[in-house]
Amino acid sequence: MDLKVGVIGTGFIGREHIKRINNKLSGAQVTAVNDINVEAAKSIAEKFNSKFYNSAVDLINSDEVEAIIVASWDPTHAEFVLESIKAGKYVFCEKPLATSAEETLMIIDEEIKFGKKLVQVGFMRRYDRGYREIKNEIENKEIGAPLIIHSIHRNKVPEPQFTTEMSIKNSVIHEIDLYRWLLGEDYKIAQVVIPKTSKNAEGELLDPQIVLLETESGVRIDVESFVNCQYGYDVRCEVVGEEGTLTLADPHQTIKRKKGKKSHPIFPDWSDRFSEAYDIELQEWINDVKKDEMNGPSSWDGYMASYTADLCSQARIKNEIIEIPTQKCPDFYCK
Ligand code: NAI
Repeated sequence: MDLKVGVIGTGFIGREHIKRINNKLSGAQVTAVNDINVEAAKSIAEKFNSKFYNSAVDLINSDEVEAIIVASWDPTHAEFVLESIKAGKYVFCEKPLATSAEETLMIIDEEIKFGKKLVQVGFMRRYDRGYREIKNEIENKEIGAPLIIHSIHRNKVPEPQFTTEMSIKNSVIHEIDLYRWLLGEDYKIAQVVIPKTSKNAEGELLDPQIVLLETESGVRIDVESFVNCQYGYDVRCEVVGEEGTLTLADPHQTIKRKKGKKSHPIFPDWSDRFSEAYDIELQEWINDVKKDEMNGPSSWDGYMASYTADLCSQARIKNEIIEIPTQKCPDFYCK
């Protein structure tokens, strides 16, 4: 029997997830959708043979919905995840889990109170083959201990309402989660450096930004976030170890040599670059829900990412190097 999934938010990524689940993945069907953009959601419902719900809360509590995907705007995530936990239903929430660490703690409290892990956060980089290979190489001690990670996160242009704070809380939050997962340790120091601002950054947006992190064991990480780079979507990562380096390679790239030039296309956006990672992420989530278990990035991972992002944001505002106090993971998540 297919798992009946309800999707809240039928914007860019919501539509991608619906298409994936109904046309490509196995074991689930999107049976219900909701969005405050009623016309758009109704047309998606019609196209994918699912039911439109006027209220997200009604969708969550409907008998026709067994599991929920939250793909609406960041400030709505916490409310819908809390409602899903109260309904006792598995919920996949796009990153970030909430817009502040405080809100993610409310989710953690509710989940622990319910007594069962129900939440997965959409940190899909953990499902990318390239990053998974890097993690294996590190764990097999192929390059000795990691010492430094250099990384880049560039978007062609941002959404119209993109703010300076979102560079960290919405964008770099991927790297914050990723390197914590890759290295298996938390962070102890954060700093944000603002270089000269691009003429393409609109309004008050400070772009690019450089986030500097240090882990508990002393690994130094630099993340360039540049959301107005103009030329395409570009994500890079190099791990420097004691005995070698690991560099993330772009998938499916054909290199053309012609008229004295060597070239390859650049991904236009995240949906192309991480297409396979989204497939694997959602297929594993569906399989886990059907087995009545949750193995992906948890609410605790969502909390640690938001907690670190909040402190990075403070470091930027105060222009200071900030210490990140250690957080003890509850047994519920880390036994
Ligand atoms: P979008 O703006 O294209 O779509 C968001 C949709 O949510 C819109 O259709 C909007 O009308 C709807 N919405 C807003 N408030 C709502 C509410 N209260 N109830 C129901 N619907 C509501 O944005 P996009 O790019 O699809 O992003 C959505 C979420 O997915 C964001 O949280 C974003 O951070 C996350 N995301 C994650 C990515 C990843 O790589 N994991 C990539 C892109 C987005």
